[in-house]
Amino acid sequence: MIHLAIVSVLVIISTVLLGLFLTTADILPAQASVQAETVDWLFGIHWWFIAFFVSLITVFILYSVIVFRRRKGERGDGKYMTGNHNLEILWTVVPIAIVLWMAVIGASTLADVERRDPQAITVDVFASQWVWRFEYTVQVTGESGEQILTAVSSDTLFLPNNQQVVLRLHSEDVIHSFFVPEFRVKQDVLPGGEEFVRELRVTPKLLGTFKVRCAEICGRLHYDMQADVTVVNGSEFNAWLVEQAAGCNLTDAECGQRWAQTYGCIACHSINGDEGVGPTWLGLIGSEVLLTDGSTVIADEEYLLTSVLDPNAHIVASFQPGIMPQDFDERLSELQILQIIAFIMSLESE
Ligand code: CUA
Repeated sequence: MIHLAIVSVLVIISTVLLGLFLTTADILPAQASVQAETVDWLFGIHWWFIAFFVSLITVFILYSVIVFRRRKGERGDGKYMTGNHNLEILWTVVPIAIVLWMAVIGASTLADVERRDPQAITVDVFASQWVWRFEYTVQVTGESGEQILTAVSSDTLFLPNNQQVVLRLHSEDVIHSFFVPEFRVKQDVLPGGEEFVRELRVTPKLLGTFKVRCAEICGRLHYDMQADVTVVNGSEFNAWLVEQAAGCNLTDAECGQRWAQTYGCIACHSINGDEGVGPTWLGLIGSEVLLTDGSTVIADEEYLLTSVLDPNAHIVASFQPGIMPQDFDERLSELQILQIIAFIMSLESE
């Protein structure tokens, strides 16, 4: 009995020390959303459970190993007991109660994180190998004063502070996973159309820039599938949307560069000469391109256009067919494609 008392005191001391360490050490990243508060509260409880169980197991083991070790001249088995109903009932009932209680707080936390705000704004998130694209619907005033809805695409997820956002997650190819550690929410992004669209609710509460990371192995450049998340004030957000909705009023090549970024072209086609998943764009225009069938073709404007619209028409030697999406004529407007080509044509090698 004296041993049990000593061990119990040691377990309590160890739990308190370890628990204080875990809850005060800066283990989690910044808490940047309202949902993160709820999740972190749950985490806080788990830290104490972890501290208790680690202590319970290690203190008992260490105490037994040291105090009950075999001493010189000792032979045979030590003292032991067989069967103790009270103990068995206790160690069945207590864990069941704990697990049930954790299920209840887990469910209520989930309900809290998924609570809908009727004022929430919606952003469509498109994941594809290996790029994130964010689409907003904006109401703008037309030339004769009528209200029209227009879509704005961005490679950065702009979000207004203190406003709930419903992210509708679409995948254009394989399964990806949307994860912003600072928001503490994560959701798989599934291909297969409207039926498989999943939603995630976030209410940012911290201004700044974070990263969306893809948290599902999705191919060669999975590790690099990131995008910026920028949380700004509501007024700044609205100004940004209006500016984006006005379209691109830069030169064709500059607009093309923007689309190449937004639609992820440059995830596979480098603009600095590096070999990527697809051929580099640097110095491509006017060059002689060797194809897999051994023939060569001059990369003129028409070649570029064909390669965007029908990527499998010419496969450059040492590259694979079927990698590049074949629906860019649906994803992009004609003007956007021509501007991207203008951008490629501006990338002459020195
Ligand atoms: Cu997308 Cu990993």
